[in-house]
Amino acid sequence: MTLVHHDPDLDIAPPRLLGVDHLEWWVGNARTFAGFLCSAFGFEPVAYAGPETGRADRVSYLLRQGGIRFMVSGALHPESPIADHVRRHGDGVRDIAFLVDDVDAAYDAALARGGTGLRSPADDTDDHGTVRHAAIATFGDTVHTLLDRSRYDGPFAPRFEPSDLSRPVGPDVGLVRLDHLVGNVELGALERWVHFYEQVFGFSQLLHFDDDQISTEYSALMSTVVWNGDRADPQPTGELVVMPINEPAEGRKKSQIEEYLDFYGTPGVQHIALRTEDIVATVRALRARGVRFMDVPATYYAEARQRMEGIDDLPWAALEELSILVDRDADGHLLQIFTETVTDRPTVFFEIIEREGAKGFGEGNFKALFEAIERAQARRGNL
Ligand code: FE2
Repeated sequence: MTLVHHDPDLDIAPPRLLGVDHLEWWVGNARTFAGFLCSAFGFEPVAYAGPETGRADRVSYLLRQGGIRFMVSGALHPESPIADHVRRHGDGVRDIAFLVDDVDAAYDAALARGGTGLRSPADDTDDHGTVRHAAIATFGDTVHTLLDRSRYDGPFAPRFEPSDLSRPVGPDVGLVRLDHLVGNVELGALERWVHFYEQVFGFSQLLHFDDDQISTEYSALMSTVVWNGDRADPQPTGELVVMPINEPAEGRKKSQIEEYLDFYGTPGVQHIALRTEDIVATVRALRARGVRFMDVPATYYAEARQRMEGIDDLPWAALEELSILVDRDADGHLLQIFTETVTDRPTVFFEIIEREGAKGFGEGNFKALFEAIERAQARRGNL
């Protein structure tokens, strides 16, 4: 592994990202975790790489649903970096892989602008063509692969073969795309990481939430959303990359961000928000498949109905039955729900989100939710 540091040269245009190609999970048992994502979340197994396909050190399952791709990888030997990663972090997201049209230009630009190179541009070739890739370090042990798959027509990448895992059965889930990806960083490090994305990738700040906006007396966090949505030379075919970054703030109790950092051991990916066009149908399907969601106290909905006054077509009975949350901003409203953590350690979870115009992230909703939870706690005498 080569670490390269440069003095940043911001005259060089930042890398042009076409969107997130895939997220790679490094887990203790890839076959089981991939199977879980298929049976519980409705992903379809697409491709597989492992010893049978010429890969000696790891297995990887590529899964797809709508425009969302997950790669799930596991180690075959204790010396594998995957085994080490799992020992330190538990299961987690190792790689947020960005699709680019020019890996070399993107890598050179990221390095010139102060990024740390982990893997220089290289080709991976077989009978189906060539995949070119490189990698840049980001928070914790997380990386951004820069990937060009435009000259490859096989199942995903060299040494991947069509998956022979059986298709999952169950109601259609209907997830269509990645909405946003959230990173948790250490206390005091938010500004540094926002600066990192601005400098290295040319992102800008979409929103910032202070701890007084998303805190209660008991839990607090600060969040800045960085994205590539307003650069002067937008990539016309690409999907936007939207990444809220959280840092814990002082509360009277341990914040959820601190708990993440304690268990993950370093900064890392906290939640992955997946978009649906029909959240009621999606959550019904996920619940039928056994996905478990965060509880919402009944007191939440009395407050929510007031907050959403004037928005007439909300299916309140279904939202309450399924524990779906609602929020609004100047542009419209959104519906969202959070799963329980899907890892053994209390670290990574999913959000399911339907946007009806709203461009926010439900932060106003968080406060209402936390307060509703605390009211319920208080009634039990546990606060
Ligand atoms: Fe979110």
